[in-house]
Amino acid sequence: MTATLRAESVSFAYEPGRPVFKSVDASVSGGETVGLVGPNGSGKSTLLRVMCGLLRTRAGGVLLNGRPLSSYGGRDRARRVAFLPQAVNPAFALSVFEVVCLGRYPHMGAFGALGPRDKEAAERCMRDTEVDHLRGRDFLTLSGGERQRVLLASILAQEPEILLLDEPTSALDIHHQIEIFSLLDRLAHNRPGGYGILVVTHDLNLAARFCDRILLLGLNQSMLAEGPHDSVLTEPLLSRAYGAPIRVSRHPETGAPLVWAEAPREETGEKGDTPHNCRGASQHGGAP
Ligand SMILES: Nc1ncnc2c1ncn2[C@@H]1O[C@H](COP(=O)(O)OP(=O)(O)OP(=O)(O)O)[C@@H](O)[C@H]1O
Ligand SMILES: [Mg+2]
Repeated sequence: MTATLRAESVSFAYEPGRPVFKSVDASVSGGETVGLVGPNGSGKSTLLRVMCGLLRTRAGGVLLNGRPLSSYGGRDRARRVAFLPQAVNPAFALSVFEVVCLGRYPHMGAFGALGPRDKEAAERCMRDTEVDHLRGRDFLTLSGGERQRVLLASILAQEPEILLLDEPTSALDIHHQIEIFSLLDRLAHNRPGGYGILVVTHDLNLAARFCDRILLLGLNQSMLAEGPHDSVLTEPLLSRAYGAPIRVSRHPETGAPLVWAEAPREETGEKGDTPHNCRGASQHGGAP
């Protein structure tokens, strides 16, 4: 059976009377990659925390395979749903290999010893995320992007059915961003019973290229749109979500939407003032 994680009409507030979102629906099923996008503060991280059970909703519910998520035991839930937070700061020094092996804890026996299958999974996930050469390094000494790939390896080693990833590529260089999104694509689509992946990203172009569906959260406490990228990544919807002019054209090779934000126009006051994009020239030389 294909795993499905579904948030139904969920509302959440950190403080009474100040909801982050109200009556929001979101879902992800095995075999699909879903992008969760929206402006800073719209509630993407909060929604992921609600969907993995770290935050309890005030209204609505989260169902895993049709059953309330809260009815699953901790280990059982961890074997099915894995969550990669936006920021992780381990409290003590561990090697890269040890951090990746932490992902195996829901599968370990009573004495917490790593078996051959655990080590095999850890090795495979380190290779997939290109961190095996870092295996002996102290995690705390890694660069931001290296840390992010190690944490992803750890989550993958958990071998869940559903992956909830909060900005897994925010610190990665352009090559590793594509590598990781391609890996997620393969994990969801290249085998029967593939992962269900719900990924938060601010890179709308990566979301357009790799996600089967996109969820767009707005700053008005609601889900503004949900569907394939063509129906969600439109100028009117994005401009409304971000409260700023957003332009959309087509990638010349892939044909996917190509999204960018317009630079703010400078108020110049009088007609005939120097346009803002010429200001650099005047600063460097000529105008009084
Ligand atoms: N622990 C908390 N206590 C109180 N308010 C919080 C807490 N965590 C987040 N918030 C607030 O809830 C709102 C949603 O935050 P959240 O982190 O979910 O946004 P986000 O969409 O993930 O933003 P970003 O793109 O910046 O990561 C914000 O206004 C934030 O300030
Ligand atoms: Mg966030």
